[in-house]
Amino acid sequence: MPSSSTRLLFSATCNHQNGGLFGRMHCLQKQSTKSKTTKEKIEQVGGSNTLNSGYDIPMIGIGTYLIKEQSAVNTAIDTALTAGYRLIDTAKRYQNEKEIGNALKECLPKHHLSRSDLFITTKVPLKLDNNTLATRKDVEESLKLLQSTYLDLVLVHFPRSWMEGATNDSLNNAGSRREAYLELEQLKLEGKVRSIGISSFESRHIEELKKYATIAPAVNQCEFHPHLTRNELREYCKKENIFFQAFTSLGRQEPALIEDPVVVGLAKKHRTSVNIVLLAFALSQGVGIVPKSANPTRIRENICAVNVQLSDQEIAQLTALDKNKNYTHCDGWNVL
Ligand SMILES: NC(=O)c1ccc[n+]([C@@H]2O[C@H](COP(=O)([O-])OP(=O)(O)OC[C@H]3O[C@@H](n4cnc5c(N)ncnc54)[C@H](OP(=O)(O)O)[C@@H]3O)[C@@H](O)[C@H]2O)c1
Repeated sequence: MPSSSTRLLFSATCNHQNGGLFGRMHCLQKQSTKSKTTKEKIEQVGGSNTLNSGYDIPMIGIGTYLIKEQSAVNTAIDTALTAGYRLIDTAKRYQNEKEIGNALKECLPKHHLSRSDLFITTKVPLKLDNNTLATRKDVEESLKLLQSTYLDLVLVHFPRSWMEGATNDSLNNAGSRREAYLELEQLKLEGKVRSIGISSFESRHIEELKKYATIAPAVNQCEFHPHLTRNELREYCKKENIFFQAFTSLGRQEPALIEDPVVVGLAKKHRTSVNIVLLAFALSQGVGIVPKSANPTRIRENICAVNVQLSDQEIAQLTALDKNKNYTHCDGWNVL
């Protein structure tokens, strides 16, 4: 659950009509001990969780996969910062780090924010070989493109390479993970990265990592929604003090998920949208989220999920929908 050091004043006034969210969405402000530097400054919304690295990660961030054009990135970042998002989730693979860096250069002063108000996550993909060098090169390039002296979180994007010739059952996968992770540890020691983590790793990949790692992964980012609830993996991460963060928590709008009668029924009951129910499903269980939208209305809508607390019974109803069904190709469980 969000750490007690960042308790919230939930005072959002989201207007709910016909199961949707319209009009003024004035989402709450963090009760902060810090004094505001200006009257206009909007504080982070949704609280945060303290990672095993000692750094706080916001519970909600904006996903940026497929937001690539500079004008689209500017709009998304500007809207997100105005709404109170402080976490930006990107990756080398999304090819938008340069555009995000440019957008932040323009938007931070406009919103009276500084770099330290933000939490930036990026991800490094594994290569077929030379992952030590490649990881360093990728992180250094990310720093340059994002115009920052440090990254808040860098994840090993997937437990194997996506390059041509890589396969799920390659005996090289473990060695590639080892090289990349150990180099991230080194980059953390140098202060270039504050927290390091993994994405789509199964518990057996993490057990393997524990044999050589000297710094525990702070985050495991995985696909998570009511059709893929990852109960055992989440329990494992909790036991290991690894923060579980969801991706694709809106199921990429897969009709089977957003039209699921249980999800629709809960949206009606809470007088909100199905998307808010999907996001609240994660937040209500202490799972972080990074919903992607390039649309200003939907960016503002999504952050209002912090106002919806599902009951244990409602969480159980949604968890019962689990079909082990993934809506991305991030099937880490198939990777040796
Ligand atoms: N670690 C990994 O391997 C990994 C894998 C996948 C994703 N991710 C991260 O997670 C983020 C989110 O996942 P995702 O992009 O796969 O999918 P997602 O967040 O589940 O869904 C995004 C889709 O939902 C639409 N949408 C968003 N809010 C909406 C709303 N309120 N109402 C209706 N439609 C809405 C978006 O369209 P519009 O843009 O038109 O609103 C987009 O088509 C990514 O952007 C990325 O940062 C990480």
